[in-house]
Amino acid sequence: MSDTTYPPSDEFVKNAHVDAAKYKEMYEASVNDPEAFWKGQMGRLDWSRTPTKIKNTSFDYHNVSIKWFEDGELNVSVNCVDRHLAKRGDQTAIIWESDDPNVDMHITYNELSEKVNKFANVLKGLGVGKGDRVVLYLPMIPEAAYAMLACTRIGAIHSIVFAGFSPEALAARVSGCDAKLIITADEAPRGGRATPLKKNVDKAREHCGDVATLVVERTGADVGMGDRDHGYTALMADASAQCAPEPMNAEDPLFILYTSGSTGAPKGVVHTTGGYLLYAAMTHEITFDYHDGDVYWCTADVGWVTGHSYIVYGPLANGATTLMFEGVPTYPDAGRFWAVCEKHKVNQFYTAPTAIRALMGQGNEWVTKYDLSDLKVLGTVGEPINPEAWNWYNEVVGKGNCPIVDTWWQTETGGHLLTPLPGATATKPGSATTPFFGVQPVVLDPQSGAEIKETECEGVLCIADSWPGQMRTVYGDHERFVKTYFSDYKGYYFSGDGCRRDADGYYWITGRVDDVINVSGHRMGTAEVESALVAHSKVAEAAVVGFPHDIKGQGIYCYVTLMEGEEYTDELKTELRNWVRQEIGPIASPDYIQWAPGLPKTRSGKIMRRILRKIAENDYGALGDTSTLADPSVVDDLIANRKQD
Ligand code: WTA
Repeated sequence: MSDTTYPPSDEFVKNAHVDAAKYKEMYEASVNDPEAFWKGQMGRLDWSRTPTKIKNTSFDYHNVSIKWFEDGELNVSVNCVDRHLAKRGDQTAIIWESDDPNVDMHITYNELSEKVNKFANVLKGLGVGKGDRVVLYLPMIPEAAYAMLACTRIGAIHSIVFAGFSPEALAARVSGCDAKLIITADEAPRGGRATPLKKNVDKAREHCGDVATLVVERTGADVGMGDRDHGYTALMADASAQCAPEPMNAEDPLFILYTSGSTGAPKGVVHTTGGYLLYAAMTHEITFDYHDGDVYWCTADVGWVTGHSYIVYGPLANGATTLMFEGVPTYPDAGRFWAVCEKHKVNQFYTAPTAIRALMGQGNEWVTKYDLSDLKVLGTVGEPINPEAWNWYNEVVGKGNCPIVDTWWQTETGGHLLTPLPGATATKPGSATTPFFGVQPVVLDPQSGAEIKETECEGVLCIADSWPGQMRTVYGDHERFVKTYFSDYKGYYFSGDGCRRDADGYYWITGRVDDVINVSGHRMGTAEVESALVAHSKVAEAAVVGFPHDIKGQGIYCYVTLMEGEEYTDELKTELRNWVRQEIGPIASPDYIQWAPGLPKTRSGKIMRRILRKIAENDYGALGDTSTLADPSVVDDLIANRKQD
């Protein structure tokens, strides 16, 4: 951990929306009188009915309920499109950079409006209405943004499934929200290869039933269109460019996004209309110090929350120019990010530590050969950033001239909770620093659950009161919502992360304290990988843990016990690896599979993951007390076998 601080330059501070004094004043106001503070921010959105009730929230375990602006009405597509037309109809809303470096596109707000209206009418024509769920399984193409906004125009609820998920994972999410329509593309080009999305949908529909599907012709590949399939181009050609926006209550659901937890199947995080949009817009403007006319680029995928809040909703609500990138950082070569920054004169750049670490290893020439002089702010998200990667990002990419915002947040939080503000906060490499407005972080003792009052401390990170962007419930399972986030530490929202607070009151995220792992910034439950493994006919038992990985942050380490009589072979390891990819998707590929004829269990049969984690980390000195194990000798066997693949 580094305690060197990097204050913003005087020049940056001069033009920033928020400087240190203003941060302090606004932060205090936001926690002393949240009602008044958020009432004062409401004007960031256009409301068809102005809210009179601002905050109505309870973290009380017996009665968890979160409502913001509950009598207000608005429409998200009006806020992200229509209201900008008079002033900036001809301004670029979306810059699309294709996987192919020779292809890009500028879409103005006027064009965006036409597409969204037509798309909304296409949805209506397919029988989709207010409250219906629509699953999006798309490449990073402008049609993904059109589809999201078209859903919001008619009050349909979208649920985006990352295009890297397998047909099985897709089917579970389609069934999970009982979707009326799937929107997909023929294929998804990425890194010069094409994923057969439509074929995956066909396979998924063998499990989830024959849900109607709209197919965007991205590559024009012949994908076979059945009775329940509709071609996008033809329907758009016939659709009217006028679709009246549906007025939505602030607390009507806007989208569902499945995310992994420590137990069970992924849960559908529900975000609602008013609070989410306001929070996404405000954090986008202030965290990135976005100014009119800037070109902003977030490299995430719309399949993750970062893509929702910081490619589409936040930037477009602010009338920004947002860049959408279809490809990968290393195609056609390791200079792609920086080539795109130069080409489109990017001002704010937001990416994941895993990408920074991967590119850092490729040599500085890939960066220095491009003109990055338009960059003003650099951001990171998704996992802790190690100081080495932070310093490289700062020096080689930012030339020591761009504040770095290390933003800590979650699918559940809708937007940034802990983050430096570029004109206000002196940053420290590896620290997400201080809370955003309205956010009250607390550090609790993990055992007693008591709030630690000393400034310098370490414990679990909780939040003491609600903010507008907070998730409202788990789709179809409010009890699970309460149990997951409000039952371990009563009266608080429990983040699942551990943290340290230093003498300056800065927060340092130390990683998950539950069985969630973070692989290349992709969040995964070890239980999901385990249940995929045990679904294989030859596997009797599996235990999965994370281990430190230089590039990915964490890798996936699987201990597998086979059924009686099955042979432990290298071929079977390959088969199991492919099996997990098929069950969940390539992002869940095991890095190591270790045969474990015996797993360390307590006498009551509970697997001792703490020991498995240590073995995976190669840290045998710290195995701790093994005397409660039913058979302590399995540990020696596991150590002897470690990483023999
Ligand atoms: C981790 C992504 C350290 C954390 C927006 C959190 C981070 C989980 C940071 C949420 C950060 C996210 N520093 N850790 N700046 N940002 N995380 O839901 O463990 O995909 O709980 O949301 O990522 O992942 P999710």
